[in-house]
Amino acid sequence: MKPRPRHILYAAIAAPVAALLVAWLGVIGVGAASGHWALTEWFLHFAMRSSVRTASLGETAPPPPTDALRPAAGHFATGCAPCHGAPGVPRPPSVQAMLPTPPDLASVVGTWSDAELHRIVMHGVRFTGMPAWPDPAREDEGWMMVAFLRALPDLDPRRYAELVAPPGAPPEDTLPAACAGCHGWTGRDGDAQVPRLAGQSEAYLRASLDAYARGTRASGVMRQAVTGLSADDRATLARMLAALPPGDDASATTRATAEPPAIATRGRSETGVPACLSCHGRPGQAGAPRLEGQPADYLAGQLRLFRDGVRGGGPYAGLMTQAASGLEDDEIEAVSAWFAGRAARD
Ligand code: HEC
Ligand code: HEC
Ligand code: HEC
Repeated sequence: MKPRPRHILYAAIAAPVAALLVAWLGVIGVGAASGHWALTEWFLHFAMRSSVRTASLGETAPPPPTDALRPAAGHFATGCAPCHGAPGVPRPPSVQAMLPTPPDLASVVGTWSDAELHRIVMHGVRFTGMPAWPDPAREDEGWMMVAFLRALPDLDPRRYAELVAPPGAPPEDTLPAACAGCHGWTGRDGDAQVPRLAGQSEAYLRASLDAYARGTRASGVMRQAVTGLSADDRATLARMLAALPPGDDASATTRATAEPPAIATRGRSETGVPACLSCHGRPGQAGAPRLEGQPADYLAGQLRLFRDGVRGGGPYAGLMTQAASGLEDDEIEAVSAWFAGRAARD
C-alpha cells in the first residue's frame, strides 16, 4: 500500500503521543545509580566530543597570558575542584556517584586542544552538570583557565597548595584569607592579571564589589569570589581595604617609563579621547581609580575590555567606556606601561 498524506498525518500525531505515554508510564529510568549502557555511554561521549570539536573549529588560541596560574588556580579551587578534585584533593564520594562522573582533569586534558578546552570551559556541557563560565563575556578569563588546565598534569599537591594559599604568614594589616590567595595578605601583591587593592578609595572599592555581585562588571573570577557576601559585608570589606597602606614600589612587572605619553596628559582631540589624567589625577574625579603601580598587563586588559564595551563597572563606568572607545592597541600598551611604572604613592 502506498502511504497517503492521511497516513503520514496519523503517524505525525501518533509518534509524539506514544513518546508522551512512555514518559508518563515512568518506564524510562532516570536513576544515576545503575549508570548508562555501554552503548549509550559511548554514544553520549561521541556526541560530546564531536560537538565540542565542531563548535571550536576556526578558533585559534591567543598567546598564553602571563602569570595566569595563581588567579586561575584560586578560581579552580572554589569553582571546579568540588567536582573534579585537584592535586591532593580527591573527589568526594557523592561526586563520584554523579552520572556522568566529573573526570580527574589531569588525566584527560591532554585529549583536547586548547580551543576545545576553552569551548568547554566557557560553555559547559549540557545534561552533565558541567557548568558554563559564570560570566560569558570574559573569554580572556577562559584562556587563563586553559593555561591552568595545561599546567595541571605537572602540578604536585605541594605546588597546587602553594598556588591556592596566600603566600607567607599574615602580617598586621591583612585581607581575609579568601581574598588573600589572589590579592596577597596586604592587598599589594598579586600577579600580572590581578589588581592591587591597597590605595584605592573606599567608594571605588565598594562600587566595584557591588558591581561584581550584581553582574554589572564582567568577571567570572570575581563574581565567584564575592558569592555569599551581603551588601553589609561588601561595605565592611571596602572600608577595610581602603585603609590598607599603598605600596612604595611601582609594579614589579614593568620598567618605569619617564615621560608620560601624550594620551595621558593631553588626550587626542581628533578622536575625542580625553586626557587620562584629567580624571585619573590626584584626587581622582568621579569614581576614577588610581592606576599608578597596577600591573601593566592588568591595566591593558581592562582597557581592551572597556574599548570592547564588555567591562562595565560602577555608576561612572560609562565615562570610561567612552574614554577608551578610540584607543589603539599601541596606545593601550604605552599608557599602561607608564602608569604601571609609577609608584602608587607618587
Ligand atoms: C557540578 C560539577 C562540575 C563543576 C563545578 C565543574 N565541572 Fe567540569 N565537568 C563536570 C562533568 C560531570 C563533566 C563530564 C562531562 C562528560 O564526561 O560527559 C565535566 C567535564 C569537564 C571537562 C571535559 C573533560 C572530559 O574529557 O570529559 C573539562 C575540561 C572540565 N569539565 C573543566 C571544568 C572546569 C575548568 C571547571 C571550573 C571552572 C569545571 N569543569 C567545573 C562537572 C563539573
Ligand atoms: C581567584 C582569585 C581572586 C580571589 C579569590 C579574589 N579576587 Fe579580587 N580580583 C581578582 C581578579 C583576577 C580581578 C580582576 C577582575 C576583573 O577583570 O575585573 C580582581 C578584582 C578585584 C577588585 C577590583 C579592583 C580594581 O582595581 O578594579 C576588587 C575590589 C577585588 N578584586 C576585591 C576582592 C575581595 C574583597 C576578595 C575576597 C572576598 C577578592 N577580591 C578575592 C582575583 C581574585
Ligand atoms: C571622564 C573621566 C575619565 C577619563 C578621561 C578616563 N577615565 Fe579611566 N576610569 C574612569 C572611571 C570613572 C573609572 C572607573 C569605572 C568603574 O569601574 O566604575 C575608570 C577606570 C579605568 C581603568 C580600570 C582600573 C581598574 O583598577 O580596574 C583603567 C585601566 C583606566 N580607567 C584607564 C584610563 C586611561 C588609560 C585613560 C586615558 C585614555 C582614562 N582611563 C581616561 C574615568 C575616566
